[in-house]
Amino acid sequence: MTILDFLRKVLRHLAALLLFRSSLKTSSVSPKSSNKEFTVVETTENIRTLDSLKDEIMRLFRQPCNIRRMLSMSSAIRIQYKARLRDSEACMLPSFSHTLPSGQETGTYVSLDVGGSTFRVAIVALSGREGQSTPMCIEHMSTFRIDERIRRLPSKEFFDWMAGSIQATLESQSRDWPSDQPLPVGLAWSFPIEQTSHRSGKMQNMGKGFACHEDTIGMDLGTLIEAACAKRQLNVSVNAIVNDSSATLLSQAYLDPATSMGLILGTGTNAAVYLPTSCMGLSKFGTRDQSWFQSAGKVITNTELSMFGKSILPQTRWDEILNREHQHPDFQPLEYMTTGRYLGELLRLIINEAVDTRDLFDGNMPLALTEPYSLDTQTMARLEQDSSSDMGDSISMIKTTFELKVPPSIEEVTFLRTAAEMISYRASAYMAVAVHALWALQKDVDINPVTDKGCPKTSIACNGSVILKYPGFKNRCEDLLRQMVNEASPATSSLAKESIVLQATEEAAIYGAAVAVALAETH
Ligand code: GLC
Repeated sequence: MTILDFLRKVLRHLAALLLFRSSLKTSSVSPKSSNKEFTVVETTENIRTLDSLKDEIMRLFRQPCNIRRMLSMSSAIRIQYKARLRDSEACMLPSFSHTLPSGQETGTYVSLDVGGSTFRVAIVALSGREGQSTPMCIEHMSTFRIDERIRRLPSKEFFDWMAGSIQATLESQSRDWPSDQPLPVGLAWSFPIEQTSHRSGKMQNMGKGFACHEDTIGMDLGTLIEAACAKRQLNVSVNAIVNDSSATLLSQAYLDPATSMGLILGTGTNAAVYLPTSCMGLSKFGTRDQSWFQSAGKVITNTELSMFGKSILPQTRWDEILNREHQHPDFQPLEYMTTGRYLGELLRLIINEAVDTRDLFDGNMPLALTEPYSLDTQTMARLEQDSSSDMGDSISMIKTTFELKVPPSIEEVTFLRTAAEMISYRASAYMAVAVHALWALQKDVDINPVTDKGCPKTSIACNGSVILKYPGFKNRCEDLLRQMVNEASPATSSLAKESIVLQATEEAAIYGAAVAVALAETH
């Protein structure tokens, strides 16, 4: 311990002692005079233990998560959805895809998937869901890591890098693509985009640390990719561009007609929903041919779900710090409380307070955690996964991950585990709220999906590391969602009988991009 650490510790103890004495004084003046004063004594004294902070965390994170409160949050969010459906330029963005796949589309396509940390190029064969054991299959896939260097590339270099990766993938396959016409490709894009047709869209701020939008905002994404490929004598035509949430919806709708929503919950969150065009303001559609409106009764809509929930989803003091110190405060309230990028940061902020006020880790912030966003959400998942009776696995994992000199005590890892459980519990509850509100919105506008046997069912296609891999997350979220539906619908109503499932998908972005090209060919 450095001399500075020692002095900090002494000061902290002195401050706690003073606080304790002043609270005792309150109680000795009028010990029974009012419950309120008595409570003050209790709270102030409790403030000093790790256990009391643990209780407070449990209370703050769990209190908003009872079904009745969640239902009233869902109603409030549905009002936000409806307002943004009228005129927002940032969310509730209608795509050009107005039909869901029939599952009979067939063909072989090249799919591109640009995510936050990987670029994937795949050759996908669609054979139709009727009587096929594998209706869709990835015949080949190459994965290219997008590291910090790639993320920071300016547009010219970034699209060149993409074109090089596409070329390398195609050349690694001995296939005879028709040489007299451009190779049709579909693109799943995990960033916002202002769609101008099935196959085009204006670049917008990408977020997630990328730089290639900086000199291309407003330019056409499809053209940028095609031009970079042309420089390498690669004749490709980007025939479909879809957001990753829409790709998820399309890939599962190809297999199951009851799919009417796609949900992403990984580093970021988003959802795509199938909605009637009539529930949107005209300005939302930009310039489109009259013929599009004539054939489009419904449309796949990119909600940009992460932006909802402000002033509706209760926050704790740690959420407030995270938001205040964020580059874009208030920009994506739901995302800041639910996704892989932020869950670990919430735990880090709690640890920071516990180190400062409760002597966690002897009052020293682990060096490995001093930088914002240095606590990986995976560490939380590992804490929750520990089934050893003495928390032995967590003790050694935390010692290594936080680079501690001495192993943490059982009390300390128990504190960390409870905090992790509370943060992830609330995240699943808030996701259930946001999804329930989308489901209720669909009911309001008569979107009533059915299975191929005609039974009412809403299948929500899911993708992303948190929803698919975080221990217990998907099941809990689904369970809360069902409880909300049951609580709100009289037992006799048809809604109470409708089944609602969070359907895990595999390689949804890659398959969805291929389905999007196949669908575009039928229009
Ligand atoms: C971010 C993007 C959104 C994307 C989501 C999931 O929220 O804004 O477009 O769908 O991450 O990748």
